[in-house]
Amino acid sequence: MSYNVALNFEDGVTRFINCNGFESVVDAAYRQGINIPMDCREGACATCKCRVESGDYSLGDYIEDALSQDEADSGYALACQMRPTSDCVVLIPTESQACGTKQESFVTRIKQVRALSGSTFALELQAESLKSLEFLPGQYANIHVPGEAHHHRAYSFSSMTAKGDTVTFLIRNVPGGLMSGFLSDRAEPGGEIEMKGPFGSFYLRPIARPILMLAGGTGLAPFLAMLDKIVAAGGSPHPIHLIYGVNTDRDIVESERLDGFTRAIRNFTFDICVVDVNSDHPNKGYVTHHIKPAQLCEGDVDIYLCGPPPMVEAVSAYLRDNNVSAASFHFEKFTPSIA
Ligand code: FES
Repeated sequence: MSYNVALNFEDGVTRFINCNGFESVVDAAYRQGINIPMDCREGACATCKCRVESGDYSLGDYIEDALSQDEADSGYALACQMRPTSDCVVLIPTESQACGTKQESFVTRIKQVRALSGSTFALELQAESLKSLEFLPGQYANIHVPGEAHHHRAYSFSSMTAKGDTVTFLIRNVPGGLMSGFLSDRAEPGGEIEMKGPFGSFYLRPIARPILMLAGGTGLAPFLAMLDKIVAAGGSPHPIHLIYGVNTDRDIVESERLDGFTRAIRNFTFDICVVDVNSDHPNKGYVTHHIKPAQLCEGDVDIYLCGPPPMVEAVSAYLRDNNVSAASFHFEKFTPSIA
């Protein structure tokens, strides 16, 4: 039996390794060219201490000085002793370069660019090498802007198909933006684009309680990948509610896909809201206007938030000012760059 282990490094790089059930995470990583810092390799020095964010595993042999009971109970483990018994996500508290690894790079071709609305593109990239790409739902890639040396943009994967040769992104059409200009004027099917990834700590954790997802604009993208993953996993044991806020009616995209998720995930619901006072949409105002007490489950909720910085900061301030508690709070800001 072998398991997929995502190693998340301190600099946001994620690498996946295969662990065969008999070998430790350190040994499996080493076999695949990743040198997790270690010293004794016997569970005594704690050099390899890591935190296991999800998955099942045995802790192996170690001494209390290296790993206390409290640490073990909180999800810490020693990578030289830990043996996964399921797929796992493991946080390695060091930079990827220090482990002799880095993000993967892919040379892809444009399969399709579609204007989903006046303000949003859907970009689909294709490459045989993408069949080996793995990422956690919610993570992002850096995409090089063709013809613009040293310029890249970070975009969240907006779908999650198993071992496919394509990846998709939602890209905001920023007036004067380098990527927007490329997609509007020069992008052709078959054109080459380099992509690096995956990156990021904004990804779906194990679903242990109700989830509230808050999306602003193209901050919807990581949630689409998360929902794909939940569909593939056979649904959610807990309710999931998404509130998707946009500025104007024309900014609404992927609503049919969201409808599809309500059919595919029994306890998934969503609301869309529009800031523009002249909107025809029944829900007006900001995302925070549409959070209902029942969705906060008296604090027994995991909240995920993704959008442009002002939206993320406003929602965070709202939650703080209203003493909203949550079992966990994960957020990601994206910045639409021009230069
Ligand atoms: Fe010493 Fe793992 S390397 S405890």
